Formats: sequence, C-alpha cells, structure tokens
Amino acid sequence: MFSMISRNDPCFCGSGKKWKKCHYPLKEHPQKGLADEYFKKYGIILKNDEQLAGIRRSCQLAAYILKKTCEMAKAGVPTNEINDFSHQLHIEANAIPAPLGYGSPPYPKSICTSLNHEICHGIPNDIPLKEGDILNIDVSCILDGFFGDCSAMVTIGKITPEKENVVNVAQQCLMRAIAILRPGLILCEIGDVIEDYAIEHGCSVVNQFVGHGVGLQFHEPPQVPHHRNETQIPLAPGMTFTIEPMINAGVRDGYIDSENHWTAYTKDGKPSAQWEHTLLVTDSGCEILTLLED
Ligand code: MF3
Ligand code: CO
Repeated sequence: MFSMISRNDPCFCGSGKKWKKCHYPLKEHPQKGLADEYFKKYGIILKNDEQLAGIRRSCQLAAYILKKTCEMAKAGVPTNEINDFSHQLHIEANAIPAPLGYGSPPYPKSICTSLNHEICHGIPNDIPLKEGDILNIDVSCILDGFFGDCSAMVTIGKITPEKENVVNVAQQCLMRAIAILRPGLILCEIGDVIEDYAIEHGCSVVNQFVGHGVGLQFHEPPQVPHHRNETQIPLAPGMTFTIEPMINAGVRDGYIDSENHWTAYTKDGKPSAQWEHTLLVTDSGCEILTLLED
C-alpha cells in the first residue's frame, strides 16, 4: 500500500536516495524567500507545516517518554533500568532513540542520565540511585525521520539546599528564555537572560555545550549558546531549536571523561542541573513542542 512507504525508504524514482531527500511531496514554505535566505545565510531550515506536523509528533513522544522515565527514577533503581524502559517505549512507538550509536565514539545507550556533578552526557549504569541524588534524564527520539529532544531533572528524596538551588535556577533559566522568544529576537538575547538569572542566583552557566537546531536532523544550525554571546541571528517563524541550559552550583568549567569520551563533569565537583525543551518560533511568539499535551 502506498501509504506504508516510509520517508526513509528509497525514493520511487530509483535515485537510491531516501524518499524524504528526493521526491517526497513537501508543501512550499509560506515565506519561501525567507526560508531560502535563512538557509543560505545561516544553514537554518525554516520548517513548513508538513514538517512541523512530523516534528510535533516526535516531540510529543519524547515528552511522553521523558515523563514515564522520570516517574521511574527512585532510590534503589539503577539508571540502566531507566534506559532499558526508555528503549522499550521507543520501540513500542515505532521510534528510534537518537542517542544510541550517535557520534564518535558511538554513544552506547538510548538516553543520557547525568547525575549530581555530571554536566551532561552521563551514561546509564548499574549503580542504584540513592537519597540525595539529582538526576537529569535526556530523551531524544526519531519518529518517521523527525527529531524531538527534551530533558528534565528528578530529585531523589531529601537533597541539599545547594542542589535544590541549582535545579530550580536551571529550570527558571529555561522558562525565562522561552518567555522572550518571538520573531525578530536576536539569538544572543537568550544567553543574556540565562546568564543574568544564573549569576544573580549564585550559579554559573556552562559555555562548553550549547542548544541547537533540531527537527530534520538531531543537531542542525544554529548553535544556541546559553552564556553571554554575540550571535546576531534574528529568530524567524518556522525555526525549531532546543534551549537546554546547563547550570553549575560552582564554576562553569568542566572536563570530559577520559575513558568513555562522553560524560562531562564539573571541574570543582559541585552539582550541575539541566532542563531542555524543543521550541518552535511562531508568527507571534513560540510553541513549546515538548510540553506534553493531554
Ligand atoms: N540533548 C542532548 C544534546 O542535544 C542529547 C545528547 S544525546 C548524545 O546534545 F547522544 F549526544 F549523547
Ligand atoms: Co539537545
């Protein structure tokens, strides 16, 4: 049946390219001139309605899996169990966990689980969570070739005031940055809002990792810095990207695990927190694509 052809199957024309990259019928973007300009100038793909429908579904799935995995994070549960559950939820939804096999060396698991002083890219393992831990779970999925990306913090039992502060500040940084999004906003204003709030509340902003365009690929242009920066790109309707501030209780600097080449830790061993949404810039403001609809 024609409708059973997936966007990732070979194109009917025999080019050998994927259907989605070849003769896949895409509606023209309503502002084609703008889309062309953004692609030429910045490599940014302004998404059309058809692409947005697919990205929305992928983002909703990521948000659903994130909610389910966060509910599972309790004292005594190893992050490997959360990983396996997340993997199963992807498979049940006919989706692929984007992190699995990604990058070099290939990322070995289906989600990232970053604990306490891990800034990001923590790898699930067999150590049980314990009272006092703070954990970031980061879920990125591929559904019908479209990408959705989100993460959240879970606190296990009673945590220190320092951890509580960094978890709350990171969430506020994300939500305050989302609140200013609209067409015409200059990208660097996101970093201004985040860095102002974090510093005011005794924290620092990681500058080693950034948010990113997302939707047709896992990581697309533009880079979205959370720290103060000079990026002069005005936001335009149809842009889809993440904001995912990593906020540290101590210094902003980190280092990467010399054995797994993925996990980033704070240099001073103090706790770090991160929250992430995938956003769409609309004609009047923005839509949080990874906010779970009921
Ligand atoms: N949200 C994270 C990012 O965009 C997810 C990383 S998954 C990994 O980088 F595979 F790259 F680790
Ligand atoms: Co991301």
